Amino acid sequence: MGDPHRVEEIIKTMQKAGTSTIQVISDFDMTLTRFAYNGKRCPTSHNILDNSKLISEECKAQLKDLLNIYYPIEIDSKRTAKEKLPLMVEWWTKAHTLLVQQRIRKDLLQDVVRESDAMLRKGYQLFFDHLLEHSIPLLIFSAGLGDVLEEVIRQAGVFHPNVKVFSNYMDFDETGVLKAFKGELIHIYNKREGSLLNTGHFQELKSRHNVLLVGDSLGDLTMADGVHGMENILKIGFLNDKVEERKTAYLNAYDIVLVKDETMDVPNALLLHLTNTK
Ligand code: TMP
Ligand code: MG
Repeated sequence: MGDPHRVEEIIKTMQKAGTSTIQVISDFDMTLTRFAYNGKRCPTSHNILDNSKLISEECKAQLKDLLNIYYPIEIDSKRTAKEKLPLMVEWWTKAHTLLVQQRIRKDLLQDVVRESDAMLRKGYQLFFDHLLEHSIPLLIFSAGLGDVLEEVIRQAGVFHPNVKVFSNYMDFDETGVLKAFKGELIHIYNKREGSLLNTGHFQELKSRHNVLLVGDSLGDLTMADGVHGMENILKIGFLNDKVEERKTAYLNAYDIVLVKDETMDVPNALLLHLTNTK
């Protein structure tokens, strides 16, 4: 924690304001899912597909080359977001173009997720169930693949009605084969609530001025931009990789930084506290 006093004050204020004023905004990959399990990296929603039987060996190699080039840039603390932005757009555009060439079948996505090593963080059940129980909306903003990540949470049995996902969705032709991606590309630097509210959906969010934000990259911090009349925000950041190099930047940006923590224990403890109005 950079400033424990600020954290304490926000929690007190939010608890007093009550659950009807709260919304949770979360990233998906490496935030709701694990970064590693038993020392082995866990897949992102892109990786789930990239490593699957739906992708040719040649394409797998090309996607891996892209990852090897661009992931180090994504986590490079020496480059600014402005420098990284065009490169991230380049990565996403190239990866999506390759995926479209693979003629992926919609009806096989369920199997691919089932057969993958995707894992939500320990404690995810309590996190999702508790939010549902208290009718707190959970907005998931992801630069990953919407169809894949929805399937991950569906198979985990926690795709509750209070969960809304904002991500890259696949567009299938009439035979169920991937032909393109829908709408505007979402990459790590343009995920934010403002764009959602402009669509006229999610009007109920407008009365929720207190935000609990959970993310794992510095790009996740803008997810709450555009929240209507925001009063308080508490930001929890998972620092999964390149810890020493990035610790200071994370402590400056997030209120609470969780270092190599593969659980939802801290967000859960906070939620239990915020919803305990006795
Ligand atoms: P997010 O967690 O901020 O929504 O970002 C999605 C992650 O997906 C980001 O860390 C980079 C990763 N990614 C891949 O693993 N493979 C890809 O092909 C692309 C475009 C992104
Ligand atoms: Mg992430």
